[in-house]
Amino acid sequence: MNDVTEPLRVAVTGAAGNIGYSLLFRLAAGECYGPDQPIILQMLEIPPAMGTLEGVAMELEDCAFPLLKGVEMADDPNRSFKDAHQIFLVGSKPRGPGMERNDLIKENGPIFVGQGQAIEKTAAADVFVITVGNPCNTNAWIAMNNAKGVPRERFTAMTRLDENRAVAQLAAKTGRDTTDVSDMIIWGNHSATQFPDAHNAKVGADRVADLVDDDWLRGEFLTTIQQRGAAIIKARGSSSAASAATAAIDHMRDAWNGTGSRMVSMAVPSDGSYGVPDGTMFSFACRCSGKGAWQIVPGVEFDDFGKEKFAATLAEIQGEAEVVKDLV
Ligand code: NAD
Ligand code: LMR
Repeated sequence: MNDVTEPLRVAVTGAAGNIGYSLLFRLAAGECYGPDQPIILQMLEIPPAMGTLEGVAMELEDCAFPLLKGVEMADDPNRSFKDAHQIFLVGSKPRGPGMERNDLIKENGPIFVGQGQAIEKTAAADVFVITVGNPCNTNAWIAMNNAKGVPRERFTAMTRLDENRAVAQLAAKTGRDTTDVSDMIIWGNHSATQFPDAHNAKVGADRVADLVDDDWLRGEFLTTIQQRGAAIIKARGSSSAASAATAAIDHMRDAWNGTGSRMVSMAVPSDGSYGVPDGTMFSFACRCSGKGAWQIVPGVEFDDFGKEKFAATLAEIQGEAEVVKDLV
């Protein structure tokens, strides 16, 4: 395990892209691993983006970040993942207006074959991976299945942005602070079928279900979260970037430091919990105990509406796996 005085090697793919441009500076500022943990950034890009990446590296240098002990650039994952402890798999194509995230599967899926293999071959023994590039559950599943020598629980995918969106909507609806909202879990796929379960969420000591009209929770709230990524693409002309970087930091910070009794949403390989077939990359309620260890929280209950949504998002993930089964 990495000593606290030794720099942590953190790899970021797609480092010259939109999310990379927000994420890298916040990692270097210590927002993820804390003010006492130096880091080395290992940035991966494709050859046409290496010039842009040089500019990003120059800007990182110009910040004179006290915690940043090195910046490496490569267009080969075997170099960028070498001895990496923490890996952010961001690099891949974003969707455009009118597309669903899984329309990207044929184009983006193959990226995660070579990257999974490179993680197995070159990364540090304690490597821990978040997949952000879409469709992120399935891409994480592809990487995990191409790195069979790495314990599978080191591969995760990001649904924290959906959770953060849901927390913000519930805080606004109840007139409370975002910090009052807890247990707001996203189940399933990072897609339009995801199930943001507000019925088991709380605001302070109160259940959301006791404070907010059920029709709103099952209607407008649900679709707002499911469609928020598309709404941002429509408004902004490109997909969420700074909020995605924030969520990636939240996910990795919680995995690194632990969550205590807090529940967070993480797509992780199922251990069969909640009837989700073993190995399926599914977003569950998780607790983290630090240095990348997580557990699925047992015993969350769903009503018939919740069960139906849960089944639909599971079916979609299984359908995506079928499309890319030749990649694993
Ligand atoms: P972007 O187009 O701005 O940047 C992507 C970068 O990845 C580009 O610089 C590109 O050159 C690079 N890239 C492409 N193929 C690569 C490869 N094989 N290896 C390394 N780098 C490669 O896109 P973005 O806005 O940064 O988004 C990146 C991905 O994140 C997209 O797939 C997007 O849909 C996804 N995303 C996911 C979430 C989530 O909540 N899970 C949120 C926002 C965005
Ligand atoms: C998001 O949720 O904002 C991202 O997954 C980007 C997208 O395609 O919606």
